[in-house]
Amino acid sequence: MNVLLIAGGWSDEREVSLSGARMIHAALERLGHQVSFFDPALDFANLLRVAREADFAFINLHGTPGEDGLIQAVLDKACCPYQGAGAAASYLALNKAASKEVFESAGIPTPDWQFVTRVQGPDTPPTLPLPVFVKPNKGGSSLGMSLVRTSGEFPAALNTVFSLCQSALVERFIPGVELTCAVLDHRPLPLIMITPKGDAAFFDYHNKYAEDGAEEICPAPVPDEVTRNVQSLMVKAHKALGLTGYSRGDFILSADGTPYLLEINTLPGMTPTSLLPRAAAQAGLAFEDLITELIRLGLE
Ligand code: DAL
Ligand code: MG
Repeated sequence: MNVLLIAGGWSDEREVSLSGARMIHAALERLGHQVSFFDPALDFANLLRVAREADFAFINLHGTPGEDGLIQAVLDKACCPYQGAGAAASYLALNKAASKEVFESAGIPTPDWQFVTRVQGPDTPPTLPLPVFVKPNKGGSSLGMSLVRTSGEFPAALNTVFSLCQSALVERFIPGVELTCAVLDHRPLPLIMITPKGDAAFFDYHNKYAEDGAEEICPAPVPDEVTRNVQSLMVKAHKALGLTGYSRGDFILSADGTPYLLEINTLPGMTPTSLLPRAAAQAGLAFEDLITELIRLGLE
């Protein structure tokens, strides 16, 4: 097939996207596909034309554009199939606050939250007990995220977000362990438990992408009952957001055993240290098998 690999883009996760794209490019070629590369940051106006010439588009963008449905909408217009969620579901899932509304209405636990817009400004007081996480409402890879322990730190954390994004999501800090769970073709993959190394207060950008930045254990060493609960919440959340193909959800398992869903990534990272390829491998799918499966699902 002629596969259009779409990566790069102009979000802060550009380097993450390009790193994953190198892995995907090599895998697509090993699978015998003809690959052409498209970076929306260089050539956005031509996407409709090049997509019309492709048999399939493999999107490896994170944040905006790409994870927000914009690219998917252009591909729909070009009648070019692609992997993962459609335009409308992508738009919903990248909005963390809107996703949390959906989780809550579906009965999926998610940490208490506050939404602050740039218009409300950095002097907006916190409404939740501290500590809290402050992060861009539409973002990823922990960029622009702060752990706020005192109210004096709150305005600076909001300002950091407003330099990147129109609105901030403030989230109650839940002490616990981080678990991630991916869904592939409506079925959950094995859980991964993540423990950042060093003195990081959370799984930050460095720990996510440094080769030795975090200890990631798959399958996660938690009781079977916890695994089943997280997996079933993840499948429920995937369906509630209207996602297709695959997705990956990040959870905090609190000390009392409640898994809180933080967010869902509709284009999960595919870098050498990323979590989805790791979970797929544990389920018996090598990187190339995962790519083949994502293309098969995208063509359905
Ligand atoms: N946002 C990054 C790429 C991830 O979730 O893997
Ligand atoms: Mg994310």
